[in-house]
Amino acid sequence: MAYDLDRIIDRKGSGSSKWELYRGGSHAGPIIPINSNLQSDGPIPMWVADMDFSSPQPVIDALSERAHHGIFGYTSASDSYYASVTDWFFKRHGWKISKDWISTTPGVVPALHFAIKTWCQPGDKVLIQKPVYYPFFRSITNGGCEIVSSNLIEEHGSYQMDFEDLEQKASDPLVNLAILCSPHNPVGRVWTADELRQYGEICNRHGVMVIADEIHADLMMPDNVFQPYAALGDAFANNTMVCTAPSKTFNLAGMHLSNMVIPNSELKQAFDAYMQETGVAGGLNPFALVAIEAAYRGGEDWLAQVLEYIHANYLFLKQYLANHLPQLHLTELQGTYLAWIDFRELGLDQAALEKLTQLDAKVLFDEGHVFGREGFGFERINIACPRSVLALALDRLKIQIDLL
Ligand SMILES: Cc1ncc(COP(=O)(O)O)c(C=O)c1O
Repeated sequence: MAYDLDRIIDRKGSGSSKWELYRGGSHAGPIIPINSNLQSDGPIPMWVADMDFSSPQPVIDALSERAHHGIFGYTSASDSYYASVTDWFFKRHGWKISKDWISTTPGVVPALHFAIKTWCQPGDKVLIQKPVYYPFFRSITNGGCEIVSSNLIEEHGSYQMDFEDLEQKASDPLVNLAILCSPHNPVGRVWTADELRQYGEICNRHGVMVIADEIHADLMMPDNVFQPYAALGDAFANNTMVCTAPSKTFNLAGMHLSNMVIPNSELKQAFDAYMQETGVAGGLNPFALVAIEAAYRGGEDWLAQVLEYIHANYLFLKQYLANHLPQLHLTELQGTYLAWIDFRELGLDQAALEKLTQLDAKVLFDEGHVFGREGFGFERINIACPRSVLALALDRLKIQIDLL
């Protein structure tokens, strides 16, 4: 079926974190209600990573049917649920997953916390690549571990891994875990098989286990191909825990169900044991199971339309900046729906940049520096919204930048 992605859906009153609450793009201030719905000339939230599109129709139908069943007692994942997950990854990415490798968790971020508690001792060091998805930081420090970053290198509007630096940092005996963000949030890179192999060989050589956060795996821009880390070969599969989820792919983040894929049975047992100890393992939300199975089985057509739309939004954004705001520099978006824009040429300090965007233009982004100090002067902008909303946000931004 054809989906109308231009349609503006009023999310006010639905409890949407994105549309009802804002902590400032630095996530430092108190949570303030923004109470916006566009009609009121209110702020336009383009921060937290969910889409303003309705989920695939098969998901909505399956949820309605499940609701009509009327009994919502303790529920477990069925064989059919697991098959929907494994079929999806084989069909979309050529990655053969065994059902026995999957542990369900209430989200990827909780899974990161559990994995670090499972694998690390307080005092260990965990390797990441800033600028990167900021909840990685807390998952590391929460486990009593230290953050070590091998920063990405920015060159002509695109980012690369610094392999020499990675090798040097991974060789520290206290570094025994690395978190890979693939595709990379916030810089939009889709790592190639060669890059991932080089990264993985360094980690394997130094006994560093890799958590591969692949939550954005399905969100590829044209001409980019996602390479599952564990599908690089046995040496990589045996030394990794992979975080997968349908939440970004099908706009189901509120369902809080993700699938960790752990091919190494010892690692998997340790991870599952930690989940048991903390009381997290056990019953699952019946709606989440139904929604995810329906999405993996019937959401491909929706995803194709959404990816095309997001890519057109990206091209629209690129053209708009080139024509009207040449001082802003857009990083090439290879994957995800999160645009990474360099505002440094405006010459504003952080407070002035936040005033410009949040108060004057009334567009709510994620401040670049929350992803690490390397992100200062950048803004992360969620473009998974109707094009008219993106256009309105850009017009508001242009008016204020012209006044500087
Ligand atoms: C790289 C990455 N990992 C994890 C998450 C969040 O995962 P979850 O909502 O399943 O905890 C996000 C959300 O933006 C993300 O970008």
